[in-house]
Amino acid sequence: MGRTLLVTGGAGFIGANYVHHVLASHAEDKVVVFDKLTYAGNLDNLRGLDADPRYTFVHADICDRAAVERTIEAHGVDTIVNFAAETHVDRSIDEPGSFIHTDVVGTYTLLEAARDRGLRYHQVSTDEVYGHVAEGDSTESDPLVPRSPYAASKTGGDLLVNAYHVTYGLYTTITRGSNNIGPYQYPEKVLPLFTTNAMEDQPLPVYGDGLQERDYQWVGDHCEAIDLVLREGRPGEVYNVGTGTSIPNLEMVQLILDSLGKPRSLIRHVADRPGHDRRYSIDNAKMRALGWQPRHSPQDAIRKTVQWYVENRWWWEPIKSGEFRAYYEKMYGHRLADAHSS
Ligand code: NAD
Ligand code: DAU
Repeated sequence: MGRTLLVTGGAGFIGANYVHHVLASHAEDKVVVFDKLTYAGNLDNLRGLDADPRYTFVHADICDRAAVERTIEAHGVDTIVNFAAETHVDRSIDEPGSFIHTDVVGTYTLLEAARDRGLRYHQVSTDEVYGHVAEGDSTESDPLVPRSPYAASKTGGDLLVNAYHVTYGLYTTITRGSNNIGPYQYPEKVLPLFTTNAMEDQPLPVYGDGLQERDYQWVGDHCEAIDLVLREGRPGEVYNVGTGTSIPNLEMVQLILDSLGKPRSLIRHVADRPGHDRRYSIDNAKMRALGWQPRHSPQDAIRKTVQWYVENRWWWEPIKSGEFRAYYEKMYGHRLADAHSS
């Protein structure tokens, strides 16, 4: 028997990749995308799905309890997969309010709707909840030490999910993913920003010395992991999802430039992000024990991502020429004016 999934935030980067994955791999499943269409939501990410009778789109806010409940009832939803969030660390430093609202209150609203009906609930979370990891790998039982408003909001969501499992017996699971890269990522995030800047011979604003480390994983690998946890994950459990290998940002930048045949002179070292977490690194053994493994190394994922942006200008050019320009000027104008090359 198929499931009827409410995929919140399904018009965003990972959510859209997940929707494509589910509809392609589970013939019996139905998907209701529930999305507020913030600046990061984009119906182009779901292009081609309108013809599929198993797919429906609802334009609404996860903080709107009546809209959530109406949608669950109207479509017979039995499972919630929550991707909806404000997700960009730099924006959370600039304006934390919307992060607390969506990532905490929104999660609470969905949990309440799930509790009333005994729905299966999955929360898509992040390795940023563990905070900066100087050495070694974070395991799922490590303390949560978030350091940015984004990470703190996501941690609030995770804690609520756990509380609903413990207190009300709700069948919940949480995945904590590392940095995703691939198709349809809004070009505020480093991979699409740097790739498209380099394609346009624009500078790449590297924060500080560029030696911060991230585990860049292919979004499709993350989607497969979420799907497995949704079907096989144990109630109340948390699963880390990543390649298990973190690399310095400068290596990522050099891979982008080399893939595009662009010069290193495009690199600019600019003022660092306040409170910038130097390193994330997760232990993915629990996920592997469930039968998952990443299909791409960070290096393969970066090359494959660059290729997608080269082949899909139709997707990112309208975004970068729209309201994004004002954002870029605000975030980077003064930094680039004071920048230096490597
Ligand atoms: P994104 O910013 O690309 O997309 C977020 C989506 O949520 C957008 O479609 C937006 O319109 C929607 N949304 C925002 N507020 C909403 C609200 N109040 N109601 C309904 N919809 C709303 O984000 P992403 O990078 O795809 O991340 C998806 C999820 O995965 C987030 O929960 C994020 O914390 C988590 N995550 C992301 C990464 C990553 O590297 N991008 C890694 C680990 C975990
Ligand atoms: O770790 C998972 C997280 O990865 C997700 O939970 C977040 O939603 C997602 O945005 C991402 O957070 P990061 O802050 O790691 O991603 P971002 O792409 O913003 O930055 C990646 C690294 O690159 C980070 O060390 C900061 C650096 N960077 C980023 C930008 C945008 C730069 O050096 N220059 C930049 O202009």
